[in-house]
Amino acid sequence: MTPREMKIAAARAALQQVKSGMTLGLGTGSTAEEFVRLVGEALAARALRDIRCTCTSNKTEQQARSLGIPIHALAEIAPLDLAVDGADEIDGKLRLIKGRGGALLREKIVEQASRRFIVIADDSKLVERLGVGVLPVEVTPFARELLQRRFAAMDLAPVLRMQDGAPRVTDEGHQLLDVRIPPNRDIADVVAQIRELAGVVETGFFPREASEAIIAAASGIRTMRR
Ligand code: A5P
Repeated sequence: MTPREMKIAAARAALQQVKSGMTLGLGTGSTAEEFVRLVGEALAARALRDIRCTCTSNKTEQQARSLGIPIHALAEIAPLDLAVDGADEIDGKLRLIKGRGGALLREKIVEQASRRFIVIADDSKLVERLGVGVLPVEVTPFARELLQRRFAAMDLAPVLRMQDGAPRVTDEGHQLLDVRIPPNRDIADVVAQIRELAGVVETGFFPREASEAIIAAASGIRTMRR
């Protein structure tokens, strides 16, 4: 199986949990994109009806609208029956790192407003310990330079996320500092310290949001439950 085939397999398994009449949160990223495509196909084939969806990013909203998926403001349809989204890292306790696609704030808002949140991923996302890669932190532009210095002083090696030669601006108008969790530190403690600083809007650490994960591997699909 290619990586894309694994993403499609996980997305297909999550689609089986979607029933007509549900309210649905649509995630962001290449795996969620496959899920959104399948939802669009199921609606077009009338295998699903009366689905009401909300999106975790402008990019996903654009894709969903292009497929004719009915989109609503989150507050109109919350609490949601189900959210489906990818992740960058997943540990054995179903804790996640998200946001390497830049949509972590809306993702966390939507996923906390869902009764059930299924993570879809290929097995390359499973880690022994969160923090193999960077932890994205969404910050207000006003505080960004100061926070970058504070994070550097905390040994978090912050890097400002760039796009086309300028700081990447999120859908909510913020910027992103990608930090590294030192190997001898616990991610929950580091995140607690980060969140105390004014100007930090949200982090990509999702400790409790996911209720289950559908993991695709070459050997097949497996489900992790909280
Ligand atoms: C978007 O901000 C992220 O949280 C994505 O959900 C995450 O990066 C997973 O993306 P892929 O499915 O593209 O790996």
